[in-house]
Amino acid sequence: METFGMMLKSCLLIMFVLVLSLQVLPSLCYTSFVFGDSLVDAGNNDYLFSLSKADSPPYGIDFTPSGGQPTGRFTNGRTISDILDEALGAKSFPLPYLAPTTKPEAFLRGLNYASGASGILDKTGSLFIGRIPLREQVDSFEQSRSHMVNMIGEKATMELLKKAMFSITTGSNDMLNYIQPLIPFFGDDKISATMLQDFMVSNLTIQLKRLHKLGARKFIVVGVGPLGCIPFVRAINLLPSGECAVEVNEMVRGYNKKLNRVLDHLNQEMEPETIFVYANSYDIVMGIIQNHHEYGFVNAGDPCCGGYLPPFICFKGPNANTSSVLCDDRSKYVFWDAYHPTEAANRIMARKLLNGDESISYPINIGNLYNYKP
Ligand SMILES: *[C@@H]1O[C@H](CO)[C@@H](O)[C@H](O)[C@H]1NC(C)=O
Ligand SMILES: *[C@@H]1O[C@H](CO)[C@@H](O)[C@H](O)[C@H]1NC(C)=O
Repeated sequence: METFGMMLKSCLLIMFVLVLSLQVLPSLCYTSFVFGDSLVDAGNNDYLFSLSKADSPPYGIDFTPSGGQPTGRFTNGRTISDILDEALGAKSFPLPYLAPTTKPEAFLRGLNYASGASGILDKTGSLFIGRIPLREQVDSFEQSRSHMVNMIGEKATMELLKKAMFSITTGSNDMLNYIQPLIPFFGDDKISATMLQDFMVSNLTIQLKRLHKLGARKFIVVGVGPLGCIPFVRAINLLPSGECAVEVNEMVRGYNKKLNRVLDHLNQEMEPETIFVYANSYDIVMGIIQNHHEYGFVNAGDPCCGGYLPPFICFKGPNANTSSVLCDDRSKYVFWDAYHPTEAANRIMARKLLNGDESISYPINIGNLYNYKP
């Protein structure tokens, strides 16, 4: 265990190197790199030609840093990744990689590569046209890393990455695409659910290993949540309130189980300074839905914004008649729109991941991962 003094010293050392090479003093040492889908996209899709965007009100209505203006986040306020970063001491959120205003100096504080509608598999989300699959997100990280090496050198870059948090929140869209009968998947002959799970796990593993090779050591790999319970899936299956699509949840659990096994394996075969933490979002979200009253929610079935029926569009027109439905109290809903949780639900999830036991975050929780020293 490294002492606080030593951590401070290495932090100061990085700052010192930065001051020498850039003539700027970064405001913090906390660094996080974010990969994934719309659950953690912080605005990348705003810069793509895409049907999957959260660039207009009421998205962002409770996001205080923007004064309630949309930022490209697919929720009313903070994403789960925002909340984790804030809790661990980030002074500002990692900027979207695609934003033209994101300059190389910002790379040293981490970056957000996540993209709405994207998945682990390259084809996922093609119906939405623009989106960045996980593989391309890692390609982008590779490029950012070269910029970092140019700025501060290979050794300082490796030091910085060793301490940085790498979170990967993906897989939901691969499954959502798969269960929608109208979306062509792998040509005409649909693969089996088992095969889909295997493709997802093996393709994800390739990207995790690439990140490790590039210097990542502290991984948060978020499992897929109970998709059978999200308003969109319940509606297309015509399920009454309180019911979830059982087969969909079974498919998700099968994938999570396989992912868990692979992460266990990676933890065993890699050097001790590398940790892959599995974030059990399935059980967390299921627990919130089933006990929503205990958590202060009144509604765990309907989206706050956009109504309960297709096409589930959450938007704000010039007046109330031309806007979609918006619930009165956003803090009382688990779901913000037909796919995404509210900030209120994200806060509960983040708190559990930070302090939870092994059933929530395995083998250690996120708070301990941040402080982890082999
Ligand atoms: C990755 O997924 C694709 C399907 O998108 C599949 O054809 C390929 O075999 C998978 N790769 C691995 C290593 O499993
Ligand atoms: C909204 O619709 C109602 C009934 O159609 C109408 O009476 C009202 O004037 C409309 N309000 C606005 C702001 O257009």
